[in-house]
Amino acid sequence: MGAILAFSGKGGSGKTTLAAMVLRQLLRIGVRPVLAVDADPNATLGLTLGVPVEHTIADLRERMGAAAMNVTEIPKERLLDQWLAEILVEDSGFDVLTMGRPEGPKCYCYVNGLLRRYLKELRGAYPVVVVDCEAGMEYLSRLTVDDIDSLILVTEATPVGMTTVARISRLADALPIKVKRRILAVNKAGQLGPALATPYGRAINGVSEIVHVPFDEDLYRRCAQALPVDDQAGLAARQAVEALTRLCLPQPDPHTATPR
Ligand SMILES: Nc1ncnc2c1ncn2[C@@H]1O[C@H](COP(=O)(O)OP(=O)(O)OP(=O)(O)O)[C@@H](O)[C@H]1O
Ligand SMILES: [Mg+2]
Repeated sequence: MGAILAFSGKGGSGKTTLAAMVLRQLLRIGVRPVLAVDADPNATLGLTLGVPVEHTIADLRERMGAAAMNVTEIPKERLLDQWLAEILVEDSGFDVLTMGRPEGPKCYCYVNGLLRRYLKELRGAYPVVVVDCEAGMEYLSRLTVDDIDSLILVTEATPVGMTTVARISRLADALPIKVKRRILAVNKAGQLGPALATPYGRAINGVSEIVHVPFDEDLYRRCAQALPVDDQAGLAARQAVEALTRLCLPQPDPHTATPR
């Protein structure tokens, strides 16, 4: 069953960038295939990874409506599986599944239901699933996944960012979700970052580790020029991303690990 790594935090803190960087690091250390899930209605993970996304789960609502009018009835389950194959974009070592933006507030339920279903179905085929979440907290209560291996709380070293991730962490406690570990990723950290952010970070309930990811000109430039976060991206942030990736991966259980 694939380990779920969910990237969450305030808007613009760097969730998508760090999700892409961690995915690249997973591939470098031989963890593959990875499933990259863009669970942000304002989808940008495909773009960030340099993968063209033409169809999203949100498109399926209309298609299902049209199929329901069709007299040559193909079972709904078969249609959904068929469509999944069209939505899932394959790349080298990873696949991308994009939720997309539903039309109108009510349609969230439908699209979330489908994302949940697809995740359940796909999870067994990947050792790791990287989920880029929507900014803020509302998505958590929609419960697309209910067991998260690593919740990566992404923030800049600012009180607003820290307050947001502290709230997300509290909400995670209040919901019926299992979160194995919470890692605070203080992103775009300048020299003062660690000193400013560490005391706040330690006060966030459930956070076991804090990683400081430096501001990286290359990552910023790539985003500005619509260049992908590929294997060469963000060398200045690389060491921190390596540490973050190590922390995110499930640690072997000492009781079940085979002695050397
Ligand atoms: N470590 C970093 N160094 C420099 N720039 C960074 C870093 N991390 C992210 N950025 C930049 O910050 C901006 C926001 O990043 P990103 O889109 O990943 O944030 P986000 O949290 O996913 O935003 P949204 O809430 O809109 O989804 C982008 O310009 C990105 O290049
Ligand atoms: Mg994003």
